[in-house]
Amino acid sequence: MSQQKSPRQKKTWLDLQAEVDTGGKLVMVTAYDAPTAHIADAAGVDIILVGDSLGNAALGFESTLQVTMAMMRHHLEAVARALPKAFLMADMPFLSYHLGIEDAIRNAGELVRAGAQAVKLEGGASREPVVRALVDAGIPVMGHIGLTPQSFHVLGGYRVQGKGAASAEQLLEDAKLLQAAGCFSVLMECVPKELAALVTETLDIFTIGIGAGPNCSGQVLVFHDVLGMHDGQYPKFVRKYMDGFNQMIIALSRWSADIKKGIFPSGEESYSLSVDALANLPSGNDPDLRQRRAGGRAKKARKT
Ligand code: KIV
Repeated sequence: MSQQKSPRQKKTWLDLQAEVDTGGKLVMVTAYDAPTAHIADAAGVDIILVGDSLGNAALGFESTLQVTMAMMRHHLEAVARALPKAFLMADMPFLSYHLGIEDAIRNAGELVRAGAQAVKLEGGASREPVVRALVDAGIPVMGHIGLTPQSFHVLGGYRVQGKGAASAEQLLEDAKLLQAAGCFSVLMECVPKELAALVTETLDIFTIGIGAGPNCSGQVLVFHDVLGMHDGQYPKFVRKYMDGFNQMIIALSRWSADIKKGIFPSGEESYSLSVDALANLPSGNDPDLRQRRAGGRAKKARKT
């Protein structure tokens, strides 16, 4: 087989594991389009996730359940076109891995062909067969346990998971099973910090936390949350590093005010005709037309 050289230094999951094994922490953030992927990559994040949070964060749905394979693919392709150096992953959306192994492989394969280096899917022990099949098909898988938003109806809402002794034990068991099935990493969402620390300590593969305390191998947040880009409710585990929503409103309002005052665009922000072209332009030198234009402006000014 001929050796293919990558034109860019793209991270692999092995690089990520090596980073953790040498004492580093991993940074993962979501992105749903090329500009957000460029920003995330320029900030040096390790992993970009085209998450199914696409549904709530970017498409205006109330949950992730409305997100389809077609939507995931469309947004993943946009992110992939940004050619990020970060490890690029995609979520398998609701019902894309529940209807049979063959269907799951076809769907995961579609995401890989669209640019994903790995997929993430929700669930514990019951996902063991599908994880094995995907890994066998050459597709790296990150497991997602704890609060699994695609099952929020079954869970009775978006709640912290693994708080009691039995559910904590079950979560630890799920993590071990996912590792045994071949997952290269496990993500824990909304899990008590002590339990997430125990899982991280127990597993050989790296963990990623969201609302799972500081002792995971890495952390993930939704792009729009970390930059404060909406005026909705933020979960307790989010730290906003920018008031993006209000800062963008301020910037757009300043632009709008400049237009209303007639000071945008300026001469420098406009294109000009050459002196020759201006002189030869029939309407430019037509005194009648000029007068009519001036008259029209005066009439408009009287009306207001
Ligand atoms: O879709 C998503 O954004 C997620 C989060 C847990 C990061 O899965």
